Amino acid sequence: MKRIVVTGGAGFIGANFVHHLVAHTDAKVVVLDKLTYAASREALAELPAGRVQLVVGDVAEAADVEPAVADADAVVHFAAESHNDNSLDDPTPFVRTNLVGTFTLLEAVRRHGVRFHHVSTDEVYGDLELHDPIRFTEESPYLPSSPYSASKAGSDHLVRAWVRSFGVAATLSNCSNNYGPWQHVEKFIPRQITNVLDGGRPKLYGAGMNVRDWIHASDHSSAVLKVLQEGRIGETYLIGADGERNNLEVVRTILRLLGRPEDDFDHVTDRAGHDLRYAIDATKLRTELGWRPTFADFEAGLAETITWYRDHETWWRPAKAATESAYSRRGQ
Ligand code: NAD
Ligand code: DAU
Repeated sequence: MKRIVVTGGAGFIGANFVHHLVAHTDAKVVVLDKLTYAASREALAELPAGRVQLVVGDVAEAADVEPAVADADAVVHFAAESHNDNSLDDPTPFVRTNLVGTFTLLEAVRRHGVRFHHVSTDEVYGDLELHDPIRFTEESPYLPSSPYSASKAGSDHLVRAWVRSFGVAATLSNCSNNYGPWQHVEKFIPRQITNVLDGGRPKLYGAGMNVRDWIHASDHSSAVLKVLQEGRIGETYLIGADGERNNLEVVRTILRLLGRPEDDFDHVTDRAGHDLRYAIDATKLRTELGWRPTFADFEAGLAETITWYRDHETWWRPAKAATESAYSRRGQ
């Protein structure tokens, strides 16, 4: 694949993936990104201009999508509205970008016979009980809870329909919660790290018992590239790195790593419809494609991420105050 379009490549995981592509392939990368509040030109700034081109455009606009897709060998689709809390405030951009955007891209790759990889989330499967050995597999039923996860679930269904009805050469992946560099301060881990770096306190929704299955964004990137290169067309691969932790444990670890007492946090208003637990069984990806994560130790990955946020205050600082005012308006 000589020319790869990465939608949402200026966002958190998309940018990590573009770095991964530059380091591990010879492909030319075209980033198609609308540059919403969640995007960052800076995340791509150090990459060689001869390898990475940024095209500012909306995946839900055929006129923006067509020229980018026309001469591509593959499209890897990360672009999305990605934050559950925002989808509870206003679902409108979630439906437009996640559903209409995916539809618009599918029509373009269908016209041009371009390989497509759809990046999705484990949230499409709803949630699991807290103390249950069950984890999500590729066979789990779809049961999304929030406007965000429902819009992602709908986009997955569109991709499978375009494979079956029109023969589009697509694969899908559904990944668990990512952490790492360039994640917006609205998300759980960066919010708590930057609160503490600011001298404030982490904010825990409800009792903090909800469980997420953490994976480093660079491991998500290597898994997506593996599926793009070796995955079977029409197949779905779950991506996860056995990183289950409840939110309280994560907050306590962040406080300890930053030298603060482990009970120095606030309980705030819980999220409406808050999913209890996500957990991924990545056996198919591991056995069929031989993929392995490199960040097997979550605490070491978290410590590295804390250092990154400490070293990149000029990057996250401009978004911090507005993000925190939106949270305080919601009592969070
Ligand atoms: P993000 O919010 O950090 O970045 C999204 C990017 O998409 C931004 O650069 C934004 O400008 C761009 N974008 C938004 N609307 C667009 C539009 N209409 N046209 C073009 N570009 C647009 O998101 P993220 O956390 O990096 O997530 C990326 C993808 O990975 C999403 O599809 C998300 O559902 C999926 N995912 C995320 C996680 C996670 O933990 N963050 C886990 C599993 C799957
Ligand atoms: O599972 C994959 C999903 O992970 C992705 O599809 C989403 O794009 C991504 O945002 C993430 O969704 P979550 O809702 O799980 O992530 P978030 O970072 O918003 O919250 C993680 C957990 O922490 C969740 O249980 C809510 C809780 N939380 C969050 C914030 C922002 C808090 O307790 N306090 C907070 O301040």
